[in-house]
Amino acid sequence: MTRHFLKDDDLTPKEQAEVIDLAIALKADRFRERPFEGPKTVAVIFDKTSTRTRVSFAVGIADLGGMPLIIDSGVFQLGKKESVADTAKVLERQVEQIIWRTYAQQGLEEMAANSSVPVINSLSDDWHPCQLLADLMTVKEHFGATQGLKLAYVGDANNNMANSYLVASAMAGMSVAVSAPEGFLPKQSVVDLAKSYAKQFGQEVLITSDPSEAVAGADVVATDTWVSMGMEAEAEQRVKLFADYSVTEELFAKANQGAVFLHCLPAYRGYEVSAEVIDGPRSLVWQEAENRLHAQKALMVFLAKHR
Ligand code: CP
Ligand code: NVA
Repeated sequence: MTRHFLKDDDLTPKEQAEVIDLAIALKADRFRERPFEGPKTVAVIFDKTSTRTRVSFAVGIADLGGMPLIIDSGVFQLGKKESVADTAKVLERQVEQIIWRTYAQQGLEEMAANSSVPVINSLSDDWHPCQLLADLMTVKEHFGATQGLKLAYVGDANNNMANSYLVASAMAGMSVAVSAPEGFLPKQSVVDLAKSYAKQFGQEVLITSDPSEAVAGADVVATDTWVSMGMEAEAEQRVKLFADYSVTEELFAKANQGAVFLHCLPAYRGYEVSAEVIDGPRSLVWQEAENRLHAQKALMVFLAKHR
């Protein structure tokens, strides 16, 4: 049966580890895997803007022997003149995989339900699972393992990155602490899912409105924009509400001495993170951005093998 990757736990913890290890191997030997030799075509659809996702999928598909077909929503019938189901039926006959950055998770589910080729979520309102493969790969490269480490996420905790950090990090055997103002904490269903994975590894999930409590003893400190794509109308209000949830040197100092900083980017210096932290010696953000390429290649290889 065709496997899809619409959210972090569409892989098992064991498969997640397998994909991350393959990503590390592909980083060392870039053209080792050629599932799209031909070249076969992979569709990459964008309903939202992107730099890293666009470049890393295009380069990654080419590295795997294939041809990326990048489609921007403004020039595509999907969502306006044609249903998701009909689009899936057209694409599945011509492309090897479908990568889609969109708004509602439901659209991805509909695409997957109608597609005999793998569908990959390259960011939705609810999840950013490809980013987490790259982040966990970065953590593994730096610390040698993910198990037993603590990750703290501070900022908007009711967004795609917070959800994916919670579930994917717990699946990788990490403790996760998330801090946001009341009203911006993650949904209980996401917290419960993360807790069920954390329990398997004897780790903890902490949800708190106190950022210092979340960051205390953390090995990895992460944040994301306070204004995700689609939330622009709330920008002014959010900047005020999140003012105490900025990853500054003062907050970062509460983490472990060897702690590292992650951010999916794009970053807004002076808002969710200070320039000192993101441009400082313990920031791994450029390695993290590069790892999108290697992690997604590993994911596409995995899905090509499991059809
Ligand atoms: N982190 C990330 O997904 O970046 P882009 O929005 O630039 O693709
Ligand atoms: N939470 C951000 C992530 C950008 C990569 C957004 O959805 O805009």
